[in-house]
Amino acid sequence: MSMKALKKSDPEVYNAITGEIKREQDKIVLIASENYASTAVMEAQGSVLTNKYAEGYPGKRYYGGCENADIVENLAIARAKEIFGAEHVNVQPHSGTQANMAVYFAMLKPKDRVLGLSLNHGGHLSHGVKVNFSGQIYKAFSYGVERKTGLIDYDKVRKMSIRHKPNLIVSGASAYSRIIDFQALSEIAKEVNAYLLADIAHISGLIATGNHPSPVPYADFVTTTTHKTLRGPRGGMVMCKAEYAKAIDKIVFPGIQGGPLMHVIAAKAVALKEALTEDFKRYQLQIVKNARELAGALMERGITIFSGGTDTHLMLIDLRKKKITGRDAENALDRAGITVNKNSIPHDTMPATVTSGIRIGTPIVTSRRMREPEMVIIADLISKILDNPENDGTIKQVRDKVKTLCKKFPVYEDIEI
Ligand SMILES: Cc1ncc(COP(=O)(O)O)c(C=O)c1O
Repeated sequence: MSMKALKKSDPEVYNAITGEIKREQDKIVLIASENYASTAVMEAQGSVLTNKYAEGYPGKRYYGGCENADIVENLAIARAKEIFGAEHVNVQPHSGTQANMAVYFAMLKPKDRVLGLSLNHGGHLSHGVKVNFSGQIYKAFSYGVERKTGLIDYDKVRKMSIRHKPNLIVSGASAYSRIIDFQALSEIAKEVNAYLLADIAHISGLIATGNHPSPVPYADFVTTTTHKTLRGPRGGMVMCKAEYAKAIDKIVFPGIQGGPLMHVIAAKAVALKEALTEDFKRYQLQIVKNARELAGALMERGITIFSGGTDTHLMLIDLRKKKITGRDAENALDRAGITVNKNSIPHDTMPATVTSGIRIGTPIVTSRRMREPEMVIIADLISKILDNPENDGTIKQVRDKVKTLCKKFPVYEDIEI
């Protein structure tokens, strides 16, 4: 990849992008919802397909000249079907939230009832939160996780479902580190005559490779982002049973979107091809192994991991014992070259802008090919900072170690700047 033209025509944007390349190279990024897409994915996303209007679907477009757009969209659909075993796939949603919006708008009427995991307990804005369309248009109820175990109690979800009679049950999460029992949720949904939506935005890479049970046989709708563990371009995707195919396609276009982002769809196709490889299988398994190792090493250093560990790519650190807030931990760690995000922990008493927790995940460090020994080093560095968040000497010491580690695991060396 080269940025010669950009450098000449717009130095300000060029400098911001080269700054971002350097940031991604020089820091240990542990944001669980992010990943580093391959250069091939980024080349497709930066291609001339950004120029093309292709409203409609392959073979049924509202514009001429869509033959290449059709090729990439058909490839993305076929590969997604092969990976997930879905009966129908729509690869046009611009984001995960829009993929969810497509399901809501296709299947529900305003004021219908929706039951999802509470945002404070690891759910997502688009699962019925008041400030989001999903909480404004629909009557939303939420279930939580257990105070003692940190786990979803499916019996409670069942009781809530019987009481609130939701039209749609939304499952999936942004900060839940344990296996989600989609089969149990589908039984509940059937019992109360609700649709089941499984939002696998975070765990789609794990599901693609058998590292988390798939909801595809059980859920009426499965939505995902393509940029988290799946390691594609930013975007969304809806999978559904064949009987809902027409309704979903009609609501994505023309219902809630205009022209599809064909460059992004091309990049989705590339990422999905990568997801079919043995290397990707090994990568996803290593993400989980790394997360487990990191959680174990943090706990050995006296750091509390919510729910006592992880089955996935992420974990929540409960900072209450450490007497530091999520906001201050995020700032101190970032100064030391370790990027995380503050995150409410279930039953948190701090506001969302402060929080008592941080969320960390291993997709990016695993993309850099770090393995278990590096997770132990990272745990040690995190622990040092959490114990001395204001000590400039410690921060510098850790920053130097982060730099050394990042040099050992280089990334994006093939981008010509
Ligand atoms: C579970 C879940 N669903 C949906 C989304 C929304 O994705 P986007 O930011 O692309 O709208 C996220 C993003 O973090 C998520 O975690």
